Amino acid sequence: MEWTWRNTRDRFGWTSILLHWISFVLVLFLLVEGIYMVTLTYYDPLYTTLPHWHKVAGVAIVLITVGRLLWNLLNPHPAPLPAPRWQQWSARLVHLAFYITLLALGVTGYVITTAKGKPIDLVFGWQLPALRSWPTAIAEPMGFLHRWIAYGLGALILLHSGAALLHHFIQHDATLKRMLSPGCK
Ligand code: HEM
Ligand code: HEM
Repeated sequence: MEWTWRNTRDRFGWTSILLHWISFVLVLFLLVEGIYMVTLTYYDPLYTTLPHWHKVAGVAIVLITVGRLLWNLLNPHPAPLPAPRWQQWSARLVHLAFYITLLALGVTGYVITTAKGKPIDLVFGWQLPALRSWPTAIAEPMGFLHRWIAYGLGALILLHSGAALLHHFIQHDATLKRMLSPGCK
């Protein structure tokens, strides 16, 4: 197996591939766990644990997403495989929408959590400081935005994974395989 970390004009390197699949696991966790955590009542033993892990995973996904954008700037993007132009454009549009929604979830989540001017406790005693205290009334509209952006992200995932599976099983091209290993192109 080739051990290429960087992208080339015709394949994704391991860095892009690993960041893609780590993001996939984290985002799936955040979505499922987020929907569950807001149903818990004060007396549930997970009432404080789950929101804590939600924030830790949320900050991690924002950092990884910024890392992916930087990595994309420093690397060529593999040329699209032969496909109608509308498919190439819609794929790029969905990728862009992913980056925007992930960052927007980070911003809205941060504002909800720091609305009272308190920092966010992470792991190893690290904290993310509150930039300022927001008018407390902001937490509710931000919660509304956060929820609907998260649902939008869920819809994008269905669209994007559906397209990837269609490429693999119907069009029989290497779109999915090259996101699994640089050895496939
Ligand atoms: C990709 C990243 C993220 C995803 C997919 C995500 C997903 C979700 C979902 C599905 C909910 C439940 C919404 C509801 O039904 O009301 C939620 C709630 C919440 N999330 Fe996130 N989240 C992300 C990032 C973050 C970050 C970075 C933070 C904070 C630093 C955060 C803080 C919160 C808080 C405080 C709530 C509770 C909101 C409320 O009760 O109004 N989230 N999130
Ligand atoms: C949380 C779920 C997911 C997110 C947020 C996500 C996000 C992304 C993003 C942002 C890209 C563009 C990478 C770049 O910057 O070049 C991408 C590419 C890709 N993703 Fe996903 N993805 C997810 C799940 C999946 C799943 C489940 C599959 C397969 C079933 C998949 C297959 C692919 C493939 C094949 C590409 C490469 C497309 C190309 O050649 O241009 N993704 N994904």
